[in-house]
Amino acid sequence: MASDIDRAGVEKAYGRWAPVYDLVFGKVFDQGRQSTIEVADRIGGRILDVGVGTGLSLSDYSRSTRLCGVDISEPMLRKAQQRVRLLKLTNVELLAVMDAKNLAFADGCFDAVVAQYVITAVPDPEGTLDEFLRVLKPGGELILVNHIGAESGPRRLFELAFAPFARRLGWRPEFPWARLVNWAAKHGGVSLAERRPMPPMGHFSLIRYRKT
Ligand SMILES: C[S@@+](CC[C@H](N)C(=O)[O-])C[C@H]1O[C@@H](n2cnc3c(N)ncnc32)[C@H](O)[C@@H]1O
Repeated sequence: MASDIDRAGVEKAYGRWAPVYDLVFGKVFDQGRQSTIEVADRIGGRILDVGVGTGLSLSDYSRSTRLCGVDISEPMLRKAQQRVRLLKLTNVELLAVMDAKNLAFADGCFDAVVAQYVITAVPDPEGTLDEFLRVLKPGGELILVNHIGAESGPRRLFELAFAPFARRLGWRPEFPWARLVNWAAKHGGVSLAERRPMPPMGHFSLIRYRKT
């Protein structure tokens, strides 16, 4: 099995991605980003965007939302800060370097938590999801978009073979849906509201959980 992701490795990987991230991942991931934002805007209020990266999504939220963005990578976040200044995004309350698993926010202080292409890039996905729920208000939504590994067939074989290389890029391509199912069952305070296939090729999913 491929060695797992660690925090230092992720910071290093995204430090390298930062200068070219928007060029490589701007367009290809845009539909997924937009779909999470549509849901978050419907909820409104105070929204936390975890793993906000270079801040590609920030200008797409409704200006009536109050946004906080956090990321583990300082070089990625610096780009987000430049974007906020340039576009005068006055609804962005805070951008801060923070580990998704140890959020410096009080319990129940967000109406929605959004994580776009993040949950399979963190060392402890289940512990991180627990932390997202901690900062959500009861009735609030956790809105994820992510690559989910195939359950069988050639895509599964490819993802398993690619996994050792992907770790160096900060990814877990084989991440199975079953891990989210097991996490939700174990947590007990959350219900799945939606899973919707997303491009490219439906290999990604928009996933919504409601805090009960
Ligand atoms: C694939 S990028 C997605 C960035 C952005 N959400 C987007 O849609 O373009 C993953 C982001 O998650 C961040 N990240 C990875 N592990 C993290 C952690 N433990 N805590 C906070 N951010 C993390 C990375 O630094 C990176 O910016």
